[in-house]
Amino acid sequence: MTLATQHDSGQSSLPAAGSAAPPRPPGAGPASAPATRIAIHNLTVHYGTFCAVRNVTLDIPANQVTAIIGPSGCGKSTVVRSLNRMTDLVPGARVSGEAILDGENILRPEVDVVNVRRRIGMVFQRPNPFPKSIYDNVAYGPRLHGVRDRDLDEVVERTLRGAALWDEVKDKLHQSALALSGGQQQRLCIARAMAVEPEVILMDEPASAIDPIGTLRIEELIADLRATYTIVIVTHNMQQASRVSDVTAFFTMDEDRAGYMVEFGPTIEIFTNPRNQLTEDYVSGRFG
Ligand SMILES: Nc1ncnc2c1ncn2[C@@H]1O[C@H](COP(=O)(O)OP(=O)(O)OP(=O)(O)O)[C@@H](O)[C@H]1O
Ligand SMILES: [Mg+2]
Repeated sequence: MTLATQHDSGQSSLPAAGSAAPPRPPGAGPASAPATRIAIHNLTVHYGTFCAVRNVTLDIPANQVTAIIGPSGCGKSTVVRSLNRMTDLVPGARVSGEAILDGENILRPEVDVVNVRRRIGMVFQRPNPFPKSIYDNVAYGPRLHGVRDRDLDEVVERTLRGAALWDEVKDKLHQSALALSGGQQQRLCIARAMAVEPEVILMDEPASAIDPIGTLRIEELIADLRATYTIVIVTHNMQQASRVSDVTAFFTMDEDRAGYMVEFGPTIEIFTNPRNQLTEDYVSGRFG
């Protein structure tokens, strides 16, 4: 079975080499009301008895970049991890509420978690390539999902081109991924996430461990990817949020330290004309 036939969202392939996002500047907000890719409703997460995130309701727009910002501990990572079902791996973690992807609540325990993780990929703060070759890192997911060996070369090349990494690695595909620079490793991890043709890519502070040039490359890549994918990026870098995202969700904590969403809207409004004083204080650097 090929990946394209497994796909049930009508999104059939990665961008062809050299394909570019339509010229829509990040931060300008949507040209028209976009479709919702994931509708989050009353998402609440407990670790044991501690409530880390309370009643988050948020529509993640399709083919846009959604930034999640807020002070340390307000539950940004918890929210993205629960969407990828990483919270299943944390003993004592309990997730309630809904996250509707194509009509299905992906938080329900009965849902096929492998399929959720194929459709909603994740990139972490520290680049974490497998201790394998560059080729095998990209081929890993497609192999797992049944792509035949004879089709893998094409998938690997197309994916690495889509991740703007092909020219840098095409002559060393069979060398260890761990020999790449940190920034290259992170773009390889983005490529690894892209290789199974997800609909959504979650990125938890993807550039915080990367130097400024590497960060710029990742931001450029994110701008390109939103033509094909829905991106959610957690970042502590306000300039980065305003550069790369279309919409921004600002989270903070209650007195009981439970995280909650204060405000969500077009990035330009959150940064220049927020409705809530807490948002204003945070984006202007008075708090957090
Ligand atoms: N595995 C865990 N077990 C128990 N508590 C946890 C766990 N992971 C996170 N928490 C707690 O949940 C709250 C939210 O954590 P989370 O990592 O989601 O915050 P964050 O907004 O991503 O913070 P940062 O900006 O520092 O990355 C914090 O109080 C944290 O201590
Ligand atoms: Mg975090």
